[in-house]
Amino acid sequence: MSALRPLATIAAAEVEALLDAAFGIDRHQRTAYRVRTGLQPIGALSFAWVEGERLTGCIQCWPVQLNGDDGQAMPMVMVGPVAVAPDRQGTGIGQRLMAESIAAAGDDAPLMLIGDPEYYGRFGFSAARSGGWRMPGPYEQRRLLARGAVPECNGMIGPRVALAA
Ligand SMILES: CC(C)(COP(=O)(O)OP(=O)(O)OC[C@H]1O[C@@H](n2cnc3c(N)ncnc32)[C@H](O)[C@@H]1OP(=O)(O)O)[C@@H](O)C(=O)NCCC(=O)NCCS
Repeated sequence: MSALRPLATIAAAEVEALLDAAFGIDRHQRTAYRVRTGLQPIGALSFAWVEGERLTGCIQCWPVQLNGDDGQAMPMVMVGPVAVAPDRQGTGIGQRLMAESIAAAGDDAPLMLIGDPEYYGRFGFSAARSGGWRMPGPYEQRRLLARGAVPECNGMIGPRVALAA
């Protein structure tokens, strides 16, 4: 039986093994990892797809912000990684997970990710409004994608910083 579960209910080692299988063990070098170092995924937006007892898919979402060149910080959600076990890819799990996170965030929520526009375009992500954004490491601008009510100004993506009280 297949089921969607909160990702927090899955052992961290299982999640890491799935990510290694989907992306390879050198995935930690990716720029997206730099942005989310030290952050915790947003529990309400992060999901697991479990078949029987096996974790076959997961999606994580992270609290980030666009640090505008004008000095303003604009909160956004970084989506990903979305990962599906190699032997289960192409069966709709990725689409299901992405749809759940978008629905939980709200249709207008400001979401961003680094990924293939050829895949993420079907969920409404595009590079149309993220041309002025930068990431703290190597990335392809065409793969820096956004969806929802995102800011269009120039700036650098970074971890979301809580405002001092
Ligand atoms: C990318 C990934 C999350 C998609 O999840 P999935 O469950 O395999 O995909 P789904 O079954 O939901 O969707 C399948 C569709 O997506 C397409 N697709 C999958 N990966 C794609 C990609 N990188 N670019 C373009 N299309 C892609 C398939 O061709 C298929 O198209 P169709 O619906 O027209 O037949 C999954 O394949 C994965 O974990 N891959 C390994 C990591 C990776 O390569 N990520 C690259 C994207 S950043």
